[in-house]
Amino acid sequence: MQKHEIPTCANYNRLSKQKSMTTFEQTYEQMRVKLSGIVPEPELRYKAELAHQINQLKREKNAIILGHNYMEAALFNSIPDYVGDSLYLSRVAARTTADIIVFCGVEFMAETAKILNPNKTVLLPAAKAGCSLASSITAADVRMLKARFPGVPVVTYVNTYADVKAETDICCTSANAAHVVRSLNSDTVIFLPDEYLARNVAKETGKHIIVPNKNGVNVSFNTDVDFQMVGWHGRCEVHEQFTVEDIETVRAQFPDVAVISHPECSPEVVAASDFAGSTTAMIKFVENNPAQRYLVLTECSMGDNIAAAVPQKEMLRLCMIRCPHMNQITMEDTLLALQLNRYEITVPEEIRVRAYRAVERMIQIG
Ligand code: 13P
Ligand code: SF4
Repeated sequence: MQKHEIPTCANYNRLSKQKSMTTFEQTYEQMRVKLSGIVPEPELRYKAELAHQINQLKREKNAIILGHNYMEAALFNSIPDYVGDSLYLSRVAARTTADIIVFCGVEFMAETAKILNPNKTVLLPAAKAGCSLASSITAADVRMLKARFPGVPVVTYVNTYADVKAETDICCTSANAAHVVRSLNSDTVIFLPDEYLARNVAKETGKHIIVPNKNGVNVSFNTDVDFQMVGWHGRCEVHEQFTVEDIETVRAQFPDVAVISHPECSPEVVAASDFAGSTTAMIKFVENNPAQRYLVLTECSMGDNIAAAVPQKEMLRLCMIRCPHMNQITMEDTLLALQLNRYEITVPEEIRVRAYRAVERMIQIG
């Protein structure tokens, strides 16, 4: 694999085969090449030792590790067989033949893997790694909205739990949300639960957006408008904190900066950015754009991962804002997950089969 190459499914496959022969020194050297400018030497040696043990155990147990783009740099660049955004990792989870999937991400991601591939053991290396969006809505909330807007298709962001997905027609991720909404060919769509993502998708697809109040009543459903989306009040506790003022301040400090944001940010922040897209789309933007300096408005760790992949470019971050849930996942706990077979994700079969329809429909439309 080239030093500056963003890991892809194909070249990570190759890397896994190399790992099957790696000694500790080789693991350390592979990590040092990528991370010496990011992870200080004592930490690098310590993490390389952990990575070596994890990779050995992974092979012994016929496990694969999936790593979300938000994982800390040492973990991200050493133990995952596949890395990427939530859409890509769902696709990998659906087709893997490994016995065990260790999901280095948050609970809704591991749950989605279990929904798609129920015969596999799916492990999350933390007892709890939630998400403010997933906890913002319940299955009862979705049923209430369906009763209020009968026959209107329901699109649910993948950042939700299985019982919520089970109530919906189709899932989406930030990578395909507009595509999914358009695919429904419906004048009105219920889009849950991220208010900001809904507003950004409404803008992109030319639909109007209505966000009912918390109990879903007292909403004026404007039938004069041709295209509309009904949203919810969920927010990502990380992305909702970035402001247009942050962007203006950084632009004043670094006039050459290119600003990239995630569509869970407010529409105002997205409008003030040079690019907005899924976590993988943000990485690709940095790879392909001539700018030398970027402000990365998403979980801070991803800035390190981009810097490791594209070291000739400079990443600015606002690291006072972190995702406490993603940061639950550590290399120490990933090793324990494999040693102790913990924490196993389970989804009641009756819920899983209904949730599967919504997730699989998303996977099918591409
Ligand atoms: P992606 O689907 O873009 O990877 O994002 C997931 C997420 O949780 C963003 O906060
Ligand atoms: Fe959830 Fe936001 Fe964390 Fe992503 S960054 S997992 S949306 S809380």
